[in-house]
Amino acid sequence: MVEIRLKGLDETDRFGRKLGKLLESGDILSMAGDLGAGKTTLTKSIGVGLGVEDYITSPTFTLINEYRGRLWLYHFDVYRLEDETDLEDLGYEDYFYSDGVTIVEWGDRIESILPEDRIDMEIKRGRELDERVIILRGKGDRYKQIVKELDID
Ligand SMILES: Nc1ncnc2c1ncn2[C@@H]1O[C@H](COP(=O)(O)OP(=O)(O)O)[C@@H](O)[C@H]1O
Ligand SMILES: [Mg+2]
Repeated sequence: MVEIRLKGLDETDRFGRKLGKLLESGDILSMAGDLGAGKTTLTKSIGVGLGVEDYITSPTFTLINEYRGRLWLYHFDVYRLEDETDLEDLGYEDYFYSDGVTIVEWGDRIESILPEDRIDMEIKRGRELDERVIILRGKGDRYKQIVKELDID
């Protein structure tokens, strides 16, 4: 487990871009954290690191948005999901087990259907208004390695 303190949007942006550059084909990142914690904000920066040029918006009402960068980015938000069959109708497995990168906001709500190997990220508010604390857990060798690299500096 690694804990990273981000003081202000600039540090969040830098961290997100760095993570985006490290991600590779098939990677999956599950995000947990309250409303307004910063999941979408961080996803925007990860997208930049992945080379996405389109403006990333919250997929709260669409369940998923897709973007083309260096790889495809599949950005889910399952906050409003009432029934897992809605995800099945969407063919979620084709995304989770694809060549792209998948990010799931509120992924902890659908943990039972997430791939076992993944990064689990929790975002919490820090002491200051613009401070965030990121807790990372890599499951599986590849993701442990990414988390280790993010822990440096
Ligand atoms: N260090 C920070 N990292 C991320 N967001 C921050 C930070 N400081 C302040 N914020 C603000 O917190 C809010 C996070 O909102 P959002 O990313 O939509 O959260 P979520 O997707 O988790 O509901 C934004 O208004 C953002 O500007
Ligand atoms: Mg959000």
